[in-house]
Amino acid sequence: MASVSSCNSTIRNNAAGSSMLHPTNNVIEDNPASNENPPTGSIKRKFEEPLGSIVAGHYNNLEEKGLSARNESRILYMRNFNNWIKSYLINKFMNMVRENFHTHSLAAVDLGCGKGGDLLKWTKANIGHLICVDIAETSVRQCKERYEFNKQKRFGAPRFSAEFIVADCTKVCFQSLLGDPTRRVHIVSCQFAFHYCFESLQQAETMVKNAASNLATGGFFLLTIPDANYIMKKLSSEKSNAFGNEVFRIEFPDDRPEVPLLFGDRYQFFLEGAVDCPEFLVHQPTLKRLCLKYGLECVYQKRFSDVYKDAMQDEQSRMLLQKMSALEPYPSPSGTQSSSNSQEYVAACEHLKQQQSDSNVRPCTLTLSASEWQATNIYTALAFKKIELPCQ
Ligand SMILES: C[S@@+](CC[C@H](N)C(=O)[O-])C[C@H]1O[C@@H](n2cnc3c(N)ncnc32)[C@H](O)[C@@H]1O
Repeated sequence: MASVSSCNSTIRNNAAGSSMLHPTNNVIEDNPASNENPPTGSIKRKFEEPLGSIVAGHYNNLEEKGLSARNESRILYMRNFNNWIKSYLINKFMNMVRENFHTHSLAAVDLGCGKGGDLLKWTKANIGHLICVDIAETSVRQCKERYEFNKQKRFGAPRFSAEFIVADCTKVCFQSLLGDPTRRVHIVSCQFAFHYCFESLQQAETMVKNAASNLATGGFFLLTIPDANYIMKKLSSEKSNAFGNEVFRIEFPDDRPEVPLLFGDRYQFFLEGAVDCPEFLVHQPTLKRLCLKYGLECVYQKRFSDVYKDAMQDEQSRMLLQKMSALEPYPSPSGTQSSSNSQEYVAACEHLKQQQSDSNVRPCTLTLSASEWQATNIYTALAFKKIELPCQ
């Protein structure tokens, strides 16, 4: 297999935002000294063109919506549900890490961190250091601002130090940009972001290398990706190159080859108010082989519906589900459901009918609309453990 490690296109910003071209190696550098020991919270960036720029552009242009706008979203509960699943997974593997490593200062990489939607999860996980990396510069800036804002809080402020890096992790290795490039982290978490690397073997390999090279032996690489088997089954049952519902749509080009590609099997993914971007199918046997090549052994693989079942066995997760409003009350106390289409709640309605009715209590259940449930269940969670490779 080919391998790539093109680590030569670095851009670093100074406070004024001006930059200088370094003639020898395509490095645009303002403040070379800051490379040695960047202060907590400095942003560095490193990426190449071209599809990455579409993805970065898409996420950069996503508006940072306020709480009230988020609360009105058609997919509010699905977003909460996905956040709850991520919390469960991060906690589960952080607990395993705590058993394996007897250190007080655990470190993590949030690969494809976006605007920092998981910062609170890292605070709760009580880590010592977080490395946030993303291709979208605006998102990384917002992530850093969010971290700094949270630091001012009286309660629940993150106690961990953090660094922020802009890099196309499918094209470049970001390790050299770290404050301490010799640091090995205990968890690399790549949530809803890994699939962008399956554009080509080289890109997938660079992404996996970015995870593996930063992980300590015994640490975990966590990912959530769309399940290619599910998507293929849906396409063949619909006898179409597209499928979707009220909240999402997946559309392959008309000229998609009959024999599926291992890499570069591109489709357009649309998610109500959140994503409208090209993505790539991840062929899971290939992913596992690639990971193993870099000492990452698959130890966990579950569709979200099964992660949900597992999480519901755990009392703390059940409490967190309530706290995070990860499911929608049906019928809604306000009289308005996320979808006005009653067909979206047929399962919840049936469930209520089957429950013994107590004349004094209005029966109520927690659910997701059928469309949101289908959209969340596109995803699979995987975890890989970093193992020592035998000397080659
Ligand atoms: C759906 S968002 C998920 C954000 C965050 N992980 C979360 O769960 O909320 C996908 C993220 O992956 C990032 N991303 C896509 N391609 C990337 C690449 N090549 N390198 C680094 N980040 C990338 C995007 O900019 C975006 O922030």
